[in-house]
Amino acid sequence: MEQTLEGVVRAWDGDGVFSAYDARSESWVFIAIHDTRLGPASGGTRLERYDRPVDGLIDALRLAEGMTYKWAGAEMPYGGGKAVIARSRSLDADERDALLDFYAARLVSLRGAFQTGVDMGTTPEDMSRIGTISGHAVGVSPDRTEDPGPYTALGVFVGIRAALAHRFGSPDVAGRSILVQGVGDVGLPLAEQLSEAGADVRLVDLDDAVASAAAARTGAAVVSADEMWSQDVDVYAPCAVGATLNPDTIPRLRCEIVAGSANNQLLTPRDGGALHDRGILYAPDYVINAGGAIALGRIHLGERDEETLLDHVRRIEGRLSEIFAEAARADESPVVAAHGRAERYLEAHD
Ligand code: PHE
Repeated sequence: MEQTLEGVVRAWDGDGVFSAYDARSESWVFIAIHDTRLGPASGGTRLERYDRPVDGLIDALRLAEGMTYKWAGAEMPYGGGKAVIARSRSLDADERDALLDFYAARLVSLRGAFQTGVDMGTTPEDMSRIGTISGHAVGVSPDRTEDPGPYTALGVFVGIRAALAHRFGSPDVAGRSILVQGVGDVGLPLAEQLSEAGADVRLVDLDDAVASAAAARTGAAVVSADEMWSQDVDVYAPCAVGATLNPDTIPRLRCEIVAGSANNQLLTPRDGGALHDRGILYAPDYVINAGGAIALGRIHLGERDEETLLDHVRRIEGRLSEIFAEAARADESPVVAAHGRAERYLEAHD
């Protein structure tokens, strides 16, 4: 991909991208709509600092595509979309609020063509603010605002069970060593659940204070960023930024399974093949991390019963087992099997 705004948009196969510039905060807004065959585009809003606006745009386009497959894989009536608010500097609280209001006004102008929820750098409180102004935030109701993190964590937890069952014959996490990279909105509740279930959990985070606070809460061990690639573990669970599976890291991995919540874990689709060649079982990111989307999407569709929501999220376990079995039969990466299933669903519902 050429690294210019024009080049990146030209090379993209999605429907299009809405962009706007907020002069006050010197930030760009990119709302990428990838595919709307299943329904209106829906996806999280990421608010991060980027060196160049084009880096934010690239993220928005890749993440929007991931959402198309996430919704299709979960058989939900939404299209793939994602918003990135790319700030160029740090913002004080007033500037940040004004930027969120600017963004919400753009959602108003799109009149529901894009609906959004929490992603990296945004909070449920931000979504209340955006939802109040625009009416297009998902997971926001008058009485409560949902945090997708714990639902995503539950999906990853059951996804790890599916992977363990496929690789070792038992889904039990007790006694299994699991490295959780990134203890944020998903990594923390995931580490809690794994520890409670008796796993040997190790945590790594860019922020030392965050890692030690999480360790104190869960009883997990902290591993430094330098040590992380030499950890011999059953499962590596990337729960932070994307692209941690690439030609540089894959040869260094010392795990049987990669199963985590980060979006866009593979730098390129070829890296799925590289994991398969190394005999590492990879849980396709958009399948295992769909719990938040499933829960928020179902709330948006009117589901209110918590147990029903959790049951829908828990179905990720069976779905992944089928994908692993199909991939094993064809001796191919689960990435290929998951992609085929999602494509078939998209075509059948066009
Ligand atoms: N941002 C999360 C994800 O990527 C949760 C989310 C999904 C939020 C869908 C809004 C809509 O899955």
